[in-house]
Amino acid sequence: MARAPSNIAFIKYWGKSELSSQWPANDSISMTLDHLATVTCATPDPTLADHTLQLNQVDHKRGDKIASKVFQHLDRLSAAMASETKFHIRSANSFPSACGIASSASGMAALTIASTAAMLAEGDLEKLRQRKFGSFTLNDLARLGSGSATRSLLGGFVQWQKGPSATEQTVSQLFSAEYWPLADMVVVLDQNEKKISSSEGHQQAWQSPLFLPRLAALPERAELVQFALKNRDFSLLGQQLEAEALEMHAVMMTSEPPITYWVEETSQFLTWLRKERVLNGLPAYFTIDAGPNIHVICEQKDRAQVQEKLKNHWQNYRILVDTVGSGPKLKVLGFVPDDPLAPDLW
Ligand code: DP6
Repeated sequence: MARAPSNIAFIKYWGKSELSSQWPANDSISMTLDHLATVTCATPDPTLADHTLQLNQVDHKRGDKIASKVFQHLDRLSAAMASETKFHIRSANSFPSACGIASSASGMAALTIASTAAMLAEGDLEKLRQRKFGSFTLNDLARLGSGSATRSLLGGFVQWQKGPSATEQTVSQLFSAEYWPLADMVVVLDQNEKKISSSEGHQQAWQSPLFLPRLAALPERAELVQFALKNRDFSLLGQQLEAEALEMHAVMMTSEPPITYWVEETSQFLTWLRKERVLNGLPAYFTIDAGPNIHVICEQKDRAQVQEKLKNHWQNYRILVDTVGSGPKLKVLGFVPDDPLAPDLW
């Protein structure tokens, strides 16, 4: 059974240089979260003809739309492990799925760890990380499931570098979770499933006239983000976060066909937050992934103040509060727990 956290990108992965190997068009940097996570149990069953899948208490069959990415990844993992064993996969998210809170990152990371561990009967996450599966590492396998999942395999602040070729990609921790206690408050403006998945969106990025200029300028922004993290310079980090999120959404909105993930409240929220910061000194900045919901980032020391403001002004919306997390966990249990998300299990 594996628990993998979601992550929020500070420098976004948007656009792929090569689809089949999941080679991103640019390097990205993220903060691994703590409470927003997926727990996945993989239970072997020799009587099964095919894997079974239950996501958030709903059974899914091979061929069904939501489950196709999961079954495809399970087949990929079975092939990489040369495993014929079939599993009952049971998975639960601690947050609403597929609306820009990176459920594919935590989901694919948890699925990769739990299934690989079960196929190899290996209960030690560190040993799994060090193993090679043909030419693949655990990081590579997670990435093939979903690009952003590869960053959820580590805690703290994480960089995924595209490297000089698709086979030379690297994922590394820049700073530990303790280095800089930041908070992420996700304001859920709309929890409906998004109509265009990130995977589809990535492919349209190249059609935006803003995409090549973005790629050319990104190394400079990535350096500023790293400098801000290193020096715990919150206003520098915040300015970069907002510019980066707006730029990615500008690329989306100018792609062919254009993609608009925002709802009306998204721009209302951005205007409100900026006004609060400028006029009332609220120490918080926003970032947004591929969805309408806003991640409000602040330092942990200011969390109560920011949370209070959000609660007062956005009382009709759910707010998910999280901090920097230390990465995924693996556990071997002899049974499937009733509530795999129960905090005392972890
Ligand atoms: C906007 O990792 O979901 O969240 O690799 O096709 O599964 P696939 O895409 P995915 O893309 C995430 C995009 C993003 C930015 C980010 O997390 O870096």
